[in-house]
Amino acid sequence: MDKLIINGGTPLHGSIRISGAKNASLPILAATLLTESSCSIKNVPDVSDTNYMVQILNSLGVSIERYSGTVITEAKTIQSAAPYELVSKMRASICMMGPLLARTGKAIISMPGGCVIGTRPIDLHLKGLKALGATITQDGGNLTLEAKNGLIGCEIDLRGKSGPTVLGTANIMMAATLAQGTTIIESAAREPEIEDLADFLINMGAKITGQGTRVITIEGVTSLHGAHHEVIPDRIEAATYMMAGLITGGEITLKNICRPHLKTIEEKIQQIGHYISYNADETQVTVSPTSNPQGCEIITDPYPSFPTDAQAQFTSLLALTPGISVIEDMIFPERFMHCAELNRMGAKIEVDRGKAIVHGVTQLTGAPVMASDLRASAALVLAGLAAKGTTQVNRLYHIDRGYEHIDTKLQDLGADLKRVPNSI
Ligand code: EPZ
Repeated sequence: MDKLIINGGTPLHGSIRISGAKNASLPILAATLLTESSCSIKNVPDVSDTNYMVQILNSLGVSIERYSGTVITEAKTIQSAAPYELVSKMRASICMMGPLLARTGKAIISMPGGCVIGTRPIDLHLKGLKALGATITQDGGNLTLEAKNGLIGCEIDLRGKSGPTVLGTANIMMAATLAQGTTIIESAAREPEIEDLADFLINMGAKITGQGTRVITIEGVTSLHGAHHEVIPDRIEAATYMMAGLITGGEITLKNICRPHLKTIEEKIQQIGHYISYNADETQVTVSPTSNPQGCEIITDPYPSFPTDAQAQFTSLLALTPGISVIEDMIFPERFMHCAELNRMGAKIEVDRGKAIVHGVTQLTGAPVMASDLRASAALVLAGLAAKGTTQVNRLYHIDRGYEHIDTKLQDLGADLKRVPNSI
């Protein structure tokens, strides 16, 4: 397993381009199953999650071409069973259930496991697909969904105990595009990635309104055609690099961003006291540090609130911010695996019942640390960039799931680090 060796203490400077959004690319790639025509998707990041998705589509019979960020698909004839060995590697592959069911009348997919950030149930996905008329059986680790006579539109409330579900909304929206009649999704996720998926589906001929609000209406059509699409910028990658600039005390500029998607990130950066500015068309953002930062409170919640996927990265920044900060994750209350590793670097963070109390310290010290999930790994890299001495971040495959070329991007910003390939 690759690792990252970081010599901390260098303020980052310069500019880099933000990649396409991983969490928009995954359901959009799954949506190409809904048509036998060719689709081309631009700005798909080269990360292991999208690579897994491409492999799964290929194994379902989709012909795929991929070059410099563009994926071209043609799902002329496809099968309904997604391969266990690939699906089990990536939980997000559950977003193929809806398109497979809608296109072929059947979907066979392995039950996703939990992960370190939470149990990750899919009861809301299954509730929605059952409401559309699917029968669902579970045999061993596999789910079989069938709708021999097609899906029938209906009204579905997708709210769970933690609020809306992002991929659940994606699954039901995709399935409903080819259902008979109209489907109304209540308590829908409002994430920009859902809006981007809806834009792609509409380009394919789907009839969708309300995307970006809590109520999405889909009027079923008999078939969809191919479409071109460019994936939106990755707002979580952007937030991560904004933290990298600020935690090292440098000034950096990020290109290919979308300001409205970064509203709560911007608010918290300003609340701490740091500086943030945009270019005229708000596709570039520059962050620079204040000499007098103050701790703050962060509570994550579904979009448009503060994103859970940026919480770990902010925790690293707040670990070095004077004062006391409180971080609460309302979506994944256990998502604090990074705190113990940060404490090994000298941070002072107490985690108690879904809350992290951060007592800002003046310095972190480099150490060998263990990554546990995608965003926790990013948080440890940020801490290593600021720490005195050398930090070794192991199990880099977590980071490679969602950050395109993170080592070269940080090196382009002046970071003193190198990727050490697996020694065995
Ligand atoms: C998406 O996961 C993202 N992944 C996650 O990003 C992100 O953390 C999450 O949304 C929340 O914003 C992708 O888009 C590929 P949810 P998703 O269904 O859709 C509960 C990253 O770091 N729930 O919105 O799987 C669930 O337990 C990843 O890029 C149910 O109870 O998350 C959680 O508490 C990590 N039943 C809450 O809802 C269900 O059927 C939100 O989960 C589904 C979810």
